[in-house]
Amino acid sequence: MNNSKQNWIIYSITIALVLSISVQTIEFVNKPKTEIPALTSEGWMAPSLFTDRSVQGEERALVIYGEELIANTSRYLGPNGSVAHVTNGMNCQNCHLNAGRKTWGNNYGAVAANYPKFRDRSGSIETVYKRVSDCMERSLNGSALDSNSHEMKAMIAYIKWVGYAVPKDSIPKGSGIKPPEYLDRAASPEKGLVVYTAKCQSCHGANGEGLMAADAQSYTYPPLWGEHSYNNGAGLFRLSRLAGYVRDNMPFNQATHRTPVLTDEESWDVAAFVNSRPRPSKDLSKDWPNISKKPIDHPFGPYTDGFTEEQHKFGPFKPIIEARKK
Ligand code: HEC
Ligand code: HEC
Repeated sequence: MNNSKQNWIIYSITIALVLSISVQTIEFVNKPKTEIPALTSEGWMAPSLFTDRSVQGEERALVIYGEELIANTSRYLGPNGSVAHVTNGMNCQNCHLNAGRKTWGNNYGAVAANYPKFRDRSGSIETVYKRVSDCMERSLNGSALDSNSHEMKAMIAYIKWVGYAVPKDSIPKGSGIKPPEYLDRAASPEKGLVVYTAKCQSCHGANGEGLMAADAQSYTYPPLWGEHSYNNGAGLFRLSRLAGYVRDNMPFNQATHRTPVLTDEESWDVAAFVNSRPRPSKDLSKDWPNISKKPIDHPFGPYTDGFTEEQHKFGPFKPIIEARKK
């Protein structure tokens, strides 16, 4: 074979290859693209430690430990905790689902972007440290950790990392808790008991006591009332918080914001039942220094709007909302 013939063969092969690749490319470009289903229907999605590299080195180790503390709080800080015994045996994650990353699951998406902020409950500017301490003293019916402790620093680092991509002063859709539609009547503990027996008791127990895991470290199903539950100063003791959380998330692994299992009515009623049961109490005399700022469902007077404690606890809430608009 002489040189020119050899070259000709190489040229032909190259041209054939280029043609076939471009035909494939054109086909690829023209083919309708298979749509990848959105992971959530909401705008915000929490970052994942598996893929996110925004924090490195020591800070990353702190964030990882923080996530562990939020998910398995009791193992470290509960009655048999390895670091301290300052909480009631529940985990932060029991109420801040998926370590505070679940959309509509009371997540931490808004925290980094909005703290420090003024809160009416304390009448002061609150840092993330103060807010975490609040949940430790109320939701975990325990005591706060020192702000310099490794554990507190880790939880704060983690919470800030969860919301690091959220623009300052904005609130991502699906963060915190959204109340169900307000009813025209008061929520009914009697009707709530019926809902509880049918849809909650199998996990949370006939006496709301939950179910302790075999290692006696933390709950498989956390308690809803009684001495090991959140106290009367906790966010969930407000009916709208409990009803909203339950509507969007319970029964666990079945309900979602878009596909709730309970109706709005059932959510309010079961919340009324649960929050009528006995639970630990906290001295709340310093809360809401400006009493006119008490939320419509804060169940302890005095109030400036003339409605009773009973109505502030169970509703109907619409008349209170209307009266406050005036
Ligand atoms: C018994 C349930 C419960 C437990 C347990 C709990 N929390 Fe909370 N937490 C709440 C509720 C309810 C709110 C208020 C949500 C709202 O009003 O939208 C809240 C609010 C917060 C906020 C403020 C969120 C925001 O957007 O302003 C932070 C931060 C927080 N919790 C951290 C923690 C940490 C850390 C732990 C564990 C040490 C913990 N919580 C344990 C129920 C709980
Ligand atoms: C299939 C079992 C199951 C059922 C049924 C169920 N839950 Fe839960 N619930 C859980 C689990 C598990 C958690 C904690 C989730 C976590 O830690 O990730 C939880 C957490 C909670 C919490 C926050 C933590 C606490 O203890 O205060 C509330 C409130 C709650 N459930 C209320 C309800 C209500 C009301 C119903 C009935 C409508 C219900 N649950 C039905 C399993 C269940």
